[in-house]
Amino acid sequence: MAYELVVVANRLPVDISVAADGTQSWQRSPGGLVSALEPVMSEAHGAWIGWSGSPDLEAEPFEADGVHLVPVTLSADEVADYYEGFANDTLWPLSHDVISPPVYHRRWWDAYRRVNRRFAAEAAQEAAQGATVWVHDYQLQLVPAMLRELRPDLRIGYFHHIPFPPLEIFAQLPWRRQVLEGLLGADLVGFQRTGDAGNFIRTVRRFTDLTTRGAVITVPGPDGRERQVRASAFPISIDSARFDALARTPEVRARAREIRADLGDPGVVLLGVDRLDYTKGIRHRIKAYGELLEEGRLSVPDTALVQVASPSRQNVEAYQQLREEVEVLVGRINGEFGRIGATPIHYLHHSYPPEEMAALYLAADVMLVTSLRDGMNLVAKEFVAACVDDRGVLVLSEFTGAADELSGSLLVNPHDIDGLKDAIAHATRMDGREMRSRMRKLRRRVLADDVRKWSQSFLRTLETAPRVPLR
Ligand code: G6P
Repeated sequence: MAYELVVVANRLPVDISVAADGTQSWQRSPGGLVSALEPVMSEAHGAWIGWSGSPDLEAEPFEADGVHLVPVTLSADEVADYYEGFANDTLWPLSHDVISPPVYHRRWWDAYRRVNRRFAAEAAQEAAQGATVWVHDYQLQLVPAMLRELRPDLRIGYFHHIPFPPLEIFAQLPWRRQVLEGLLGADLVGFQRTGDAGNFIRTVRRFTDLTTRGAVITVPGPDGRERQVRASAFPISIDSARFDALARTPEVRARAREIRADLGDPGVVLLGVDRLDYTKGIRHRIKAYGELLEEGRLSVPDTALVQVASPSRQNVEAYQQLREEVEVLVGRINGEFGRIGATPIHYLHHSYPPEEMAALYLAADVMLVTSLRDGMNLVAKEFVAACVDDRGVLVLSEFTGAADELSGSLLVNPHDIDGLKDAIAHATRMDGREMRSRMRKLRRRVLADDVRKWSQSFLRTLETAPRVPLR
């Protein structure tokens, strides 16, 4: 079959699992990318190429919600070297301000190249003549050039969901030039913020001999003819209407009341929702909250913090270490400031379906997004979309992509614990008028700039990319 729109991403929008008797079933998989692209893909009836989420799993292509899904098999070694290794222990920390030190292993790089080549080959097979292929995220940065080599007739777009590091940090990567050449196989390279696009252009200027003019890079083709690659910002969003609608359903509203009642009807519910990742500033947030309790500026049971920390990349050591640290901190604060029936931190190491998330957002008075570095942070936007009563305050780290857009939030530097404490205290006491006016401003933005607009804007720009005529 040949598809006019092919998405290539590390993960399929579903996780496939195998029961003891060998039968396969699938569930919606976690992660921001899935929720961002699912609506676009079911509308276009496109093909989606991605990994099933389990090692060594061989599965035939299948249809789900109008999308043709093509599972790519990764061996257990490839999961360790390409996914946990190069993607999540080299590129991820390198792209997030080296919060955790990136690890460089040549074996991991070899696996990254090999797996990228497999994804490119699958895309080359599924795409119709002249089709559009949209490659996603840091796990697949070599795919654009590999695919162009196999299929010069395609229009190729690439979107980078995470930050693109500053030149001085990117410079550490032993394979920096190969990664740039991989990305430059695309016609359009999209980033979350203009700052990320700027970082990319600067690294291209520094580590290649190519000519750049504003957002356009000129790349010579194998036959000597030139191609132009555009690099610009397309800040991603969410399916805002879906969260808005969910938060208006009687079931979700009843569940939100139930959550508050189960928490003991505190005066103030603080909420954090993150993958358990060292980029999210979970420790900083909990430390600030603990100090506010210690100083008596907040107290239990009048205040409760609900921290959802969904399990993530659990085989990577830095994540195991973070879990230990967060759990020690939560235990210490609960031990010190809790009483029977009055728990300061409700810590949940789980992930939840969107209905439960909407109920949690609705139940919260203050949402805490304190990332140390974050490409966008879709949780901040989901919270805003779910605040259908214009009630709720968003405390938002200035180191998120979302901070560029969401004026109306209380911006914080999460490293500045005193500043963070003041912002949390202010949020818990904000008067109703200020809260409503801030939230209305936030909602106007999030409801207007939804994920459909994002994908349409990326795809439209990609469609107008100048084509190199094929001989
Ligand atoms: C971030 C990345 C995605 C990734 C998601 C979940 O949002 O940008 O590419 O899918 O995290 O991480 P995981 O490693 O579980 O896919």
